[in-house]
Amino acid sequence: MINKNKLIQAAARSRQRAVAPYSKFKVGAALLTKSGEIISGANVESASYGLTCCAERVALFGALTGGKKNFIAVAVVARAAGGASPCGACRQLLAEYAPDAMVFMADSAALKKIREATVRELLPSAFVIVP
Ligand code: THU
Repeated sequence: MINKNKLIQAAARSRQRAVAPYSKFKVGAALLTKSGEIISGANVESASYGLTCCAERVALFGALTGGKKNFIAVAVVARAAGGASPCGACRQLLAEYAPDAMVFMADSAALKKIREATVRELLPSAFVIVP
């Protein structure tokens, strides 16, 4: 069983380390592997705004380059009503590297109110290259 509250808590903790001096919109994300490991990340912004990287991708890139795989869930926490939903770019990456994962979303001001979806629901018919 997935402990959604624990994963949301990890995303909320990671959100505190967001580097968002331009938008001030802090986001935290946490990935859960099949073996129960949690890898988290937060958004990092650049003065060249387009270089900004979302929390979901920071977490995913850290996890992948740390040798983690088999992601079963991802949590996203932001200070927004209902929590932030992963952006299109993050959905693409999640569809490629965490296609079977659940997505939990919460407002940092209401962590117990968790919205959920699947990566497949968020990005149906994702672009993939079958090797
Ligand atoms: N952001 C995320 O970290 N994740 C999302 O799913 C949407 C947006 C970040 C990017 C930027 O630093 C800030 O939120 C405002 O767009």
